[in-house]
Amino acid sequence: MTSHNQFLISFTAISTLILIFKTKASPDDGFSYSELTCPAAADKSEHHHNNNNLPAPARLPPNPDCRIWSEACSAEVLGLVRMPEHVRWLKGLRRRIHETPELAFEEFETSRLVRDELDRMKVDYRFPVATTGVRAAIGTGGPPYVAVRADMDALPIQEAVEWEHKSKVKGKMHACGHDAHVAMLLGAAKILKTRQHYLKGTVILLFQPAEEGGNGAKRMIGDGALENVDAIFAAHVSHEHPTGTIGSRPGPLLAGCGFFRGVISGKQGDAENPHRSIDPVLAASAAVISLQGIVSREANPLDSQVVSVTSFNGGDNLDVIPNTVVLGGTFRAFSNTSFYLLLKRIEEVIVEQARVFRCSATVDFFEKESTIYPPTVNNERMYEHVRKVAVDLVGTANFRVVPPMMGAEDFSFYSEVVPAAFFYIGIRNETLGSIHSGHSPHFMIDEDALPIGAAAHAAIAERYLNEH
Ligand SMILES: *[C@@H]1O[C@H](CO)[C@@H](O)[C@H](O)[C@H]1NC(C)=O
Ligand SMILES: *[C@@H]1O[C@H](CO)[C@@H](O)[C@H](O)[C@H]1NC(C)=O
Ligand SMILES: [Zn+2]
Ligand SMILES: [Zn+2]
Repeated sequence: MTSHNQFLISFTAISTLILIFKTKASPDDGFSYSELTCPAAADKSEHHHNNNNLPAPARLPPNPDCRIWSEACSAEVLGLVRMPEHVRWLKGLRRRIHETPELAFEEFETSRLVRDELDRMKVDYRFPVATTGVRAAIGTGGPPYVAVRADMDALPIQEAVEWEHKSKVKGKMHACGHDAHVAMLLGAAKILKTRQHYLKGTVILLFQPAEEGGNGAKRMIGDGALENVDAIFAAHVSHEHPTGTIGSRPGPLLAGCGFFRGVISGKQGDAENPHRSIDPVLAASAAVISLQGIVSREANPLDSQVVSVTSFNGGDNLDVIPNTVVLGGTFRAFSNTSFYLLLKRIEEVIVEQARVFRCSATVDFFEKESTIYPPTVNNERMYEHVRKVAVDLVGTANFRVVPPMMGAEDFSFYSEVVPAAFFYIGIRNETLGSIHSGHSPHFMIDEDALPIGAAAHAAIAERYLNEH
């Protein structure tokens, strides 16, 4: 998920801090950067790979005919991912990626690792897509086409977890779990390749750069990632849900996220003779007040939205009215309509309030710098598909309907083009200490989630083709 870290570095420290807290805020999150301890050594010995939360493998007839999906097929997929050598391979992949994190559009080694593994499995792919991205295909080569996506980029964060496979790159870390996403999708590739004869269409595997900033998804789409694709799915690991659980929700899941910067221009002048100047400080102050009215007076209170002004800079001479004031902040919303309405109204309010005080104003939404993320809205039918698959894999008790979160995801670009669903794979384990939110230097995952993620990705894809 994204909190626009790279982008924020160019902002003021204060706005960065505010935004980190805004972005990470979630209904029940006790997250704080002052969390001090993190149990060392995430390296669990191999005999733990059979996760206790998973239902025991059902005793079912061998080799069910999965041309029509049944519970037996889910059990078979689970059986494949639980094989000790498969689990070892999955963990090994994730650890190698974790040790060598790469930032947005620099995922050269990660991308090479992905292609090497695909080569070994004899899976065809297209490369490069969006610089470092890979688009692989498994199945008949014909319709229908279902896509599953993994993001590959790491964050400019120094890892604070001491363990055997700690990041070897100073100041860079897979602190959002994208290393796990890549491993899970490769795990799914292996399962799907084994089960290729069952596939009633084509699975497209998308390994995407630059989720954390840079709109990798948008670039992937531009380079043809969604060609022919009928539906798309993706997962994110989540420290809010225990290992062994899968969560999602129909409709809005993650907020749309944008930033704005307004420049209000007046006319500089001596402060003791205000009538000889045009004061942008007053105009900007009025704009800040009026911006508060957008959400409080114009938005449906049941439709969550946020506008926060986080920076306000004018002159620095206490005796002079400055020429310009620059103000800026962020806005979030869960519905596409509300998100773009906020954008429009922020611009209108700043421009019109400036005009009230005889100033002029321009507003920039950084569209060129790719920092606008639309809301991630789960298609009801695709959500239902994820739910069905998840319930078969982990049991009803381990599927959670999750609340929406104010975080953002560039998966939303795909969901604007084709029916899509995004879901969470639980990685929380108090014993291990995998309790820290994404983008924390203490972030770590419970690797027992890897086989579950691989199975979920594979079953979602195979079953989609079966039923469409
Ligand atoms: C969201 O709104 C924008 C602007 O109106 C539009 O370009 C885009 O296609 C919309 N997306 C969806 C999913 O409706
Ligand atoms: C957490 O990890 C420990 C150590 O690997 C394991 O014994 C335990 O079953 C895990 N708990 C959950 C909820 O997965
Ligand atoms: Zn992420
Ligand atoms: Zn992230």
